[in-house]
Amino acid sequence: MLFDKFNRIHDYLRISLTDNCNFRCTYCMPEEKIQCLPNHKLMSSGEIIEIADVFVKLGINKIRLTGGEPLLRKDFGEIFEGLSSLPVKMTITTNAFWLNRYIDLFKKTGLKSLNISIDSLDREKFFSITKRDHFETVWSNILLMIEHGFDVKLNIVLMKNVNDDEINNFILLTKDLPVHVRFIEFMPFDKNKWDRNKVISFTDVFDNIYRDFDIIKLHDEKHDTSKKFKVTGHQGTFAFITTMSQPFCVDCNRLRLTADGKIKNCLFGKDELDLLSAFREGQDIKNIITESVASKHFKMGGQFESGYLETSADDVINRSMIKIGG
Ligand code: 5AD
Ligand code: SF4
Repeated sequence: MLFDKFNRIHDYLRISLTDNCNFRCTYCMPEEKIQCLPNHKLMSSGEIIEIADVFVKLGINKIRLTGGEPLLRKDFGEIFEGLSSLPVKMTITTNAFWLNRYIDLFKKTGLKSLNISIDSLDREKFFSITKRDHFETVWSNILLMIEHGFDVKLNIVLMKNVNDDEINNFILLTKDLPVHVRFIEFMPFDKNKWDRNKVISFTDVFDNIYRDFDIIKLHDEKHDTSKKFKVTGHQGTFAFITTMSQPFCVDCNRLRLTADGKIKNCLFGKDELDLLSAFREGQDIKNIITESVASKHFKMGGQFESGYLETSADDVINRSMIKIGG
């Protein structure tokens, strides 16, 4: 079992399959052209499965595949099937564009739930955020996944004067659709034009939601990163991921593996250890994993501990989100 020095168990691994994406979301990607990793620097499908197996033997029981966009990998099917044969709960975070191709695979491997990024329900605004005119494909794939009985969570990164006027429309989606809408506070990463004034926090909007809807608080599980609610009589739920205003580091159970095989013990941490090179040299990577867990900071990767209202984008040293993997 992987415990850090604050006695937090680490049993959840997020693996990025690629730093490439067919969308260009402003909050995730730097505006200038980014260089994607060459293939030989990416973990191959076999390496991903073997490395994941080492994590599973150390107590990991849930794996999320992320990107960039994980479905862009040509060998996604092979990777997903291989990992699904391990004793772990599998899930993914995707932009939904290619989802219709994978329904049979997901049914066969027993996928239950998945997270889909969608930051606007308005086609033009969707285009201005993602730089791609793909709202209709994304929306029809969301409906398709619901129709096929998957548990669908929608991730919305809230940004002031961008999509904060759509909060009620997203909540209204939960009336007739059994979806879980999750509003995420805008987080700072390398070159994503973050500014504390663009963050819409849970407390900024909650009074309005309370005024407009008849709301029930739902129970949050340990390790949950979201505060869950439901409107009385609605089929779905909504939640806030309060990473910036009320971080949930205290019982964090997450580790990350970047597409180039570096272990990161925190989304906001700048520390990385190179698992893939060690693996390729035939070293025992267990020690590197335990060393990474042991060196985890208590909060926010040891950065902006004084809170986001005191932070400016220049204070943050990290990869861009596309290079970390959601
Ligand atoms: N702030 C908050 N959430 C982000 N994501 C990506 N970048 C950011 C950011 N700057 C989320 C998206 C996506 C997931 C991969 O990560 O919502 O669903
Ligand atoms: Fe691609 Fe997701 Fe990043 Fe958007 S947020 S650019 S869809 S990886």
